[in-house]
Amino acid sequence: MDLTLLTSVVIALVLTLVDARRGHALDSVAPPLFVFGSSYADTGNLSPTDKTQPYPWAKPYGETWPGAPAGRYSDGHVLTDIVVDILNMSLPTPFRSVKRNGSSKEPHGVNFATSGSTILTSSSMPSVSSQIDAFQSNIMSKYTPQQLASAIVLYCTSGDDYFFYLATSSSSLSSIYPLTVNVGKQISMDLVKLYGLGLRKFFVAYLPPSGCLPVASSANRYKGCNDTWTRSIAVPHNERIFKNVLGLRHYFKNGTILLIDLFSAFSAAQSEIGTGGLQPCCMGTIVGMRCGSVSRARALYSLCPSPNTQFYWDDSIHPTDAGWKLVGNQLQSSLNAIKK
Ligand SMILES: *[C@@H]1O[C@H](CO)[C@@H](O)[C@H](O)[C@H]1NC(C)=O
Ligand SMILES: *[C@@H]1O[C@H](CO)[C@@H](O)[C@H](O)[C@H]1NC(C)=O
Ligand SMILES: *[C@@H]1O[C@H](CO)[C@@H](O)[C@H](O)[C@H]1NC(C)=O
Ligand SMILES: *[C@@H]1O[C@H](CO)[C@@H](O)[C@H](O)[C@H]1NC(C)=O
Repeated sequence: MDLTLLTSVVIALVLTLVDARRGHALDSVAPPLFVFGSSYADTGNLSPTDKTQPYPWAKPYGETWPGAPAGRYSDGHVLTDIVVDILNMSLPTPFRSVKRNGSSKEPHGVNFATSGSTILTSSSMPSVSSQIDAFQSNIMSKYTPQQLASAIVLYCTSGDDYFFYLATSSSSLSSIYPLTVNVGKQISMDLVKLYGLGLRKFFVAYLPPSGCLPVASSANRYKGCNDTWTRSIAVPHNERIFKNVLGLRHYFKNGTILLIDLFSAFSAAQSEIGTGGLQPCCMGTIVGMRCGSVSRARALYSLCPSPNTQFYWDDSIHPTDAGWKLVGNQLQSSLNAIKK
């Protein structure tokens, strides 16, 4: 689909929903936020002691904010922080902390998003639907039906299904299409389940242009986006999400379901940050090493002088703190539409 068309259709959808909700009073107390997904939304759900995935709890992650590793795949904030900020809410507690400290009721909600989680059950990481199972069995009974109905859901994959598929099969980009269909179906089933549990307000994020991610643009030494990647992953995925969300609006009679257009927001933010901004700040210095890799206490990664000037933080798929802030500027009005 033509991207300008896609964007204007999204805006039209948002405006329609805004109209439908106009006249509802704003809640005086901020509603809880429940987050499902993977690294773009994860605020600390990987275990710091899990040696298979040490990176977001190891240097140099978190060096811009809070100044030490904080379990986020960024030098600072990630999408969940940005959404909370724009909506004037408070950060939901990571589910890992809820489990560890015993589950009291978290007034600001719970973040289940875990880096590496896929939508389909295909990797060794728990899937997003198992995050929803954890919400159902451990968390939802602590809230009244009214609180669940006013709560906001953020559902955000970072494309892990596709990257896992490319990394573990010898398949090429051209064979990804059927996977986008199945991922789209499972996302709908996940949202239907959450609606059935009493949640009513949903944000569903698009994927950003896959070809601009360092994992794709490295082959071209970060000189530009690789359109083959974008056309094979983000475009069919987002078209599927768009169609499915249109269908769900009929089913979610009492609900609101808004799209977070990370495709347009990343594109606009990347052109704002300019040429050179596609090169990640933190990169492995040897083939096979990544941002955060260490051998015998020696860092096997290099850092750029100023992360503020780069859109991407690490050499996989993750924006910098500055990158997410630019994305946030793009998202302000569409996020605020959920309050109407
Ligand atoms: C943000 O939230 C705080 C506390 O919940 C409230 O006092 C304040 O008025 C809110 N600000 C805006 C701009 O909504
Ligand atoms: C667990 O609770 C303690 C105090 O009760 C608090 O200091 C700590 O931050 C909590 N753990 C997490 C990871 O939230
Ligand atoms: C874009 O990606 C495809 C698939 O990985 C690759 O074959 C092609 O050479 C890439 N193009 C550029 C300009 O890097
Ligand atoms: C919408 O919610 C209201 C109040 O919670 C309820 O009375 C009504 O039956 C619901 N309508 C539909 C179509 O589910």
